[in-house]
Amino acid sequence: MRILVTGSSGLLGKSLCPMLDNEGWQYWACNSKIFDITNTKMVNEIMNKISLDFIIHLAGYTNIDQAEDNPELAFNVNQLGTRNIAHIAKKHNIPILYVSTDNVFDGTSETPYKPTDATNPINTYGKSKLAGEKEIIKATKKHYILRTSWLYGAGGYVDAMLTFSNFRKEISVVNDQIGCPTWTDDISRKIVEIIKENKPYGIYHVSSSGSASWADFTKKIFEIKKRNVEVLSIDKSDFPRPALRPKYCVLDSENALPNWENSLEEYLTNKN
Ligand SMILES: NC(=O)c1ccc[n+]([C@@H]2O[C@H](COP(=O)([O-])OP(=O)(O)OC[C@H]3O[C@@H](n4cnc5c(N)ncnc54)[C@H](OP(=O)(O)O)[C@@H]3O)[C@@H](O)[C@H]2O)c1
Repeated sequence: MRILVTGSSGLLGKSLCPMLDNEGWQYWACNSKIFDITNTKMVNEIMNKISLDFIIHLAGYTNIDQAEDNPELAFNVNQLGTRNIAHIAKKHNIPILYVSTDNVFDGTSETPYKPTDATNPINTYGKSKLAGEKEIIKATKKHYILRTSWLYGAGGYVDAMLTFSNFRKEISVVNDQIGCPTWTDDISRKIVEIIKENKPYGIYHVSSSGSASWADFTKKIFEIKKRNVEVLSIDKSDFPRPALRPKYCVLDSENALPNWENSLEEYLTNKN
């Protein structure tokens, strides 16, 4: 198995690549420095010269707030870059797996979103990722689109909170934004399973089971690690940010990962 992995240096790529190693699969791990997905000419030149069996497309412009000031950049990476990568999949007639986001939904639902539910992104990041999904669907039937949410792993939100707890005794966190905190190792295992089992092509919702607010999530981190930090629950309106966030973005899926509290406990077990 020869795999192209874009975005390998990111939060998710760092969890996934060791698992590809464990499978004994050959993969070409790319970040923006060695393979800029927005450079159409370069992408085509390189891809004409290599053989591939599968593409895992993780690369993305992921700064939700900065995307509001830089919509061209966000669309350049998330739409044009994805179009370029999707064309490689089409040209080589190989499957492509694209990781997308809960931000394709507007968050007004009161029940978990199914893969078939109508999309309606309310921020630039979500619009650009949805445009990426459409590029993939237009280019090839051999696609897996995995929508996930609130990823944490080495160097992410959970680690940042633990560092924070060394210096502060209280933190204000929003309690009126609900989602699914999801461990990068859990979704990485699911990606490997999808490839190994040749699952049917299509759109999948892949996040932890259960749901939480950011305040619930943060409290649980401190509780598990026995850190004495008080979490002060606030409303989104008390903490204005450039990008709107969907209020309720729980993903409903037949492919649910383990419960978010159990995964968080496992992730934190081996941390100092
Ligand atoms: N993090 C989340 O909570 C979350 C939730 C839902 C969905 N997702 C999606 O999951 C995917 C992975 O997320 P992540 O958190 O691992 O992202 P991340 O940590 O921000 O990493 C982004 C990756 O994309 C690469 N990249 C950015 N621009 C590029 C370009 N022009 N050409 C080639 N590579 C480029 C980066 O390379 P450099 O290191 O060189 O910059 C990096 O490897 C993304 O597509 C994201 O939209 C993330």
